[in-house]
Amino acid sequence: MVDKKQALLLEDFDIEIVSRDLNFYYGDNQALFGISVGMPAKQVTALIGPSGCGKSTFLRTLNRMNDIIPGARVEGQVLISGKDIYQHGTDVVKLRRKVGMVFQKSNPFPKSIFENVAYGPRIHGTRDRQQLAAIVEKSLVRAGLWEEVKDRLNDNALGLSGGQQQRLCIARALAVDPQILLMDEPASALDPKSTARVEDLIGELRELYTIVIVTHNMQQAARVSDFTAFFYEGALVEFNATKLIFTNPKEKQTEDYITGRFG
Ligand SMILES: Nc1ncnc2c1ncn2[C@@H]1O[C@H](COP(=O)(O)OP(=O)(O)O)[C@@H](O)[C@H]1O
Ligand SMILES: [Mg+2]
Repeated sequence: MVDKKQALLLEDFDIEIVSRDLNFYYGDNQALFGISVGMPAKQVTALIGPSGCGKSTFLRTLNRMNDIIPGARVEGQVLISGKDIYQHGTDVVKLRRKVGMVFQKSNPFPKSIFENVAYGPRIHGTRDRQQLAAIVEKSLVRAGLWEEVKDRLNDNALGLSGGQQQRLCIARALAVDPQILLMDEPASALDPKSTARVEDLIGELRELYTIVIVTHNMQQAARVSDFTAFFYEGALVEFNATKLIFTNPKEKQTEDYITGRFG
């Protein structure tokens, strides 16, 4: 573990994700400064902070999604289940299978609902139609979408509502059997009712997956997360149990942010 306070806070948990002295650069611009944090297994950790503070950048370091950005560079370590994912020889495809991602804008493929969910398992080698059908059903059930789409699996996914499309993308992420789910403002483009569905869903998925969610909505962080990390200008200012962050922040910057003084 990385610092004494965090170690105490997390002593009863399995720590699944650890970042250690993590710096991140876009070319000459440093976006993350010495991030050290541990995130517990089968819990929801929210990343909050004002726009541009590095939440998405940090989230993307956890499955090496930043690798594809030209000029991007990482220093320090990210350990997933104890293994440094930036170590030479890491299988990035396998990593991203284990650490799935859901984005702000739902992005289904212009294919059938079935094919959207079957896509991942197929490229990872599942060919058997029956086996694929079972995975598709299980993933859609977990994403809370099965009842709504079971009679029209061959319809184009783009015909679904925004909220359904986002749950489809969650099903797509679940279909390759990840261990960790990264969500970058997954509900910020949705209406209140669809947002509530996604939030309920996060409550169900936390039994099965370790979840890290970026949100600029503090009420949402308070509702869905167990732990909260507050970022400011590329640094981790405070990490604590969500209840404590919102009722008794230790740092002045955190307090100013959650009381709405900036951000
Ligand atoms: N692809 C990119 N190329 C260059 N700079 C970027 C890129 N993405 C983000 N940044 C910069 O990194 C900083 C952190 O951004 P980001 O992680 O997106 O913050 P947040 O998600 O908290 O709004 C910002 O200054 C942003 O302009
Ligand atoms: Mg962002």
